[in-house]
Amino acid sequence: MSKQDQVVARGKRTTTRIFTRDDVDKMQAWKEHTDPFYAVYNIKPLTPGERDEWYQQRTTKPNYRMFAIDNEKGDMVGRIVLWKINPRTKGTFLGIEIAAGYINQGYGSDALLAFQDFYFQNMQFETLKLHVSAVNNRAKACYLGCGFKHTNLFWTPSAKQSELDIFGDDRYAHIRHFFRKAGDHLEVLFHEMTMTKEDWEARGELSASEAKE
Ligand SMILES: CC(C)(COP(=O)(O)OP(=O)(O)OC[C@H]1O[C@@H](n2cnc3c(N)ncnc32)[C@H](O)[C@@H]1OP(=O)(O)O)[C@@H](O)C(=O)NCCC(=O)NCCS
Repeated sequence: MSKQDQVVARGKRTTTRIFTRDDVDKMQAWKEHTDPFYAVYNIKPLTPGERDEWYQQRTTKPNYRMFAIDNEKGDMVGRIVLWKINPRTKGTFLGIEIAAGYINQGYGSDALLAFQDFYFQNMQFETLKLHVSAVNNRAKACYLGCGFKHTNLFWTPSAKQSELDIFGDDRYAHIRHFFRKAGDHLEVLFHEMTMTKEDWEARGELSASEAKE
């Protein structure tokens, strides 16, 4: 299959396509996040054998699909995953990750908007949900801008920030309200956000009427 055949969505600046084994190698070259909050997204170094296994595990799961995002230069700058795919409820959960060296440049929003067309039109799902930490203002802004709405709030164990001294270090005073202690571990507040097929259709109708004006 050529790279062209694997394309599922084209944005203004990004192309989203089926994730390949080569993409695992490309991810290994991604820069690390400098902000400790995002260290959890840093790519762990893997041997070639571990990369095969990582790829194999994710591409053979029945309720999971993975896509790669390329930018206008052809650099692989991120990935999208669909998890908990449920044909019965016609819904899935979305995960999106843009590489540290490319965040905040519009690639996430561009890829996600284009991917929604593929998701609702071609895959024919009816709801798309995601979970995002309340601390992650950039991700929340990106998702709201792409049409997601807040639909739930929940506390969950924070393996990601458990190394940080949230309650002792004053650098974290402004985000302390998003955390709570639960026994010997830390919990963080998460949002569930949802986009429905109706929201997606309404956006299409709005852009069509704006184009006519
Ligand atoms: C979340 C993520 C996918 C978004 O993709 P992106 O390409 O960085 O996002 P974009 O540049 O398209 O949009 C970011 C938006 O956040 C806004 N933003 C950036 N920093 C912000 C902050 N600290 N507070 C509020 N808004 C912020 C930007 O202005 C932009 O909004 P705009 O389009 O209205 O101007 C990407 O940043 C990422 O992968 N981050 C690391 C991992 C992660 O957080 N994953 C999400 C897990 S749910």
